[in-house]
Amino acid sequence: MTDAMRIALAADHGGAGLKAELLDRLPRLGLGHEYLDLGNDGSDNGDDYPDLSRRLGRAIQAGQADRGILICGSGVGAAIAASKMRGVRASVCHDTYSARQGVEHDDMNVLCLGARIIAIELALECSRAFLGATFSGEARHARRLAKVTALEAEAASESEGVSSAP
Ligand code: RB5
Repeated sequence: MTDAMRIALAADHGGAGLKAELLDRLPRLGLGHEYLDLGNDGSDNGDDYPDLSRRLGRAIQAGQADRGILICGSGVGAAIAASKMRGVRASVCHDTYSARQGVEHDDMNVLCLGARIIAIELALECSRAFLGATFSGEARHARRLAKVTALEAEAASESEGVSSAP
């Protein structure tokens, strides 16, 4: 069992319904975590998933949340956007094996779900697998994670180069 964590949840209009169900059901699993609702409530059909990914990613970067659960229609757009952010490792996992191994091997800190793809019971099981896992720290996984972090640093320095170009 993992230590108690602060888990941020965010969703666009495509994912707000599943987020509301998770916020209702997750505390009842008794895992000891705190759940933070970062919106949205589904009332704005024009909200854009990158804005929610950014809000949740910022909460992780600022240390306001330890991990996140991000929901859109498919989970895909939310994962693409969130993974652009420094220190955010997000992926869509609609099976419990990936939800657990993504943390153990890849140090995934944001689970992305597609509300149009899976229903509450599987979403809960994937969340339970995600929240119950910890990064193994094994040498081969640490080496690969360091390479992922290097890619992030490379992208940051390239964009600095672009912005400082004449
Ligand atoms: C919004 O309609 C939808 O495109 C979005 O929630 C998500 O599925 C994108 O990946």
